[in-house]
Amino acid sequence: MVHEVKHLLHLENVYQSYGSKLILDNIDLTVSAGELCTVVGPSGCGKSTLLRLIVGQEQPHSGTVLIEGKSVGIPDKRRGIVYQKYSLFPHLTVLENILLGKRLTLGSFEWRKQKRQISEEALEFLKKVHLQEHRNKYPHELSGGMQQRVSIVQTLIMKPDIVLMDEPFGALDPETREQLQIFLLELWENHPMTIFFVTHDLMEAVYLGTRILVLSHYYSDDRGHAPEVRRGARIVADYPLERVASSTTIKSSKVFTDLVQQIRKEGFDPKSTTHVSAFNLKHKDSFQTLTPEEHAP
Ligand SMILES: Nc1ncnc2c1ncn2[C@@H]1O[C@H](COP(=O)(O)OP(=O)(O)O)[C@@H](O)[C@H]1O
Ligand SMILES: [Mg+2]
Repeated sequence: MVHEVKHLLHLENVYQSYGSKLILDNIDLTVSAGELCTVVGPSGCGKSTLLRLIVGQEQPHSGTVLIEGKSVGIPDKRRGIVYQKYSLFPHLTVLENILLGKRLTLGSFEWRKQKRQISEEALEFLKKVHLQEHRNKYPHELSGGMQQRVSIVQTLIMKPDIVLMDEPFGALDPETREQLQIFLLELWENHPMTIFFVTHDLMEAVYLGTRILVLSHYYSDDRGHAPEVRRGARIVADYPLERVASSTTIKSSKVFTDLVQQIRKEGFDPKSTTHVSAFNLKHKDSFQTLTPEEHAP
């Protein structure tokens, strides 16, 4: 291993393919605890695939995926995940949905012992997301934005080391989406946690992140363009972002729109030919292992 393991998340030389199609191509990535890391890239480039490898729902074709220095293995409590579609059970109330994870993992004896304390904690969380008075409602009685807030609480109450989110606001209307972006920032500011947030929405990624990773298959390297060359997505840019304020007015500032423009060019333009040796890997945790085929020394 090239890099010493001191990060919450550590991926090195990770490849994933489906059949003959190479999706992820030599992914190197470390994430420090406390970061709100956003991952952005064109639709179909492999963002969800990357998340599945981190959750442990899938094993990489090759390469290393570690959480706190340990192999990810199968999905467990260390990783919480929030999907785009609501993960709530329709026949359970808001409160029951939130308690379900604890109830299932504790076993009936521990559950009975801790039920009161866990229920109190659940109510605290519900208060924070302004859903306290809706605790006895069923999911169909809530709006999409409310359901998604319940899903987030459902994940957070399990106290995962890392919260993985796959386009969690993708199904919401623009106004609700913006409200939930602010809500997520407030949660993250008040509860130290590590978030790995995947989206194809560039504005959302730049707005939310303390770090933005751009995953894309639009780049060049020394492997050439022969038909047999298979090229998958890799991290083509990696920036630290300044967390200024939770105000959304920042989205219309010049610094913000310039960065969005630059990332659009780097990650979303099929004609982009930035060479692997010239990627904008500016974040302090960024590293890159190039093979001789990718970049002749
Ligand atoms: N289980 C699978 N079997 C075959 N192909 C898959 C599978 N999962 C994803 N793919 C393909 O891998 C590519 C990346 O998919 P995905 O990770 O979902 O992209 P993104 O989340 O960036 O939109 C897509 O071309 C998709 O069709
Ligand atoms: Mg996806």
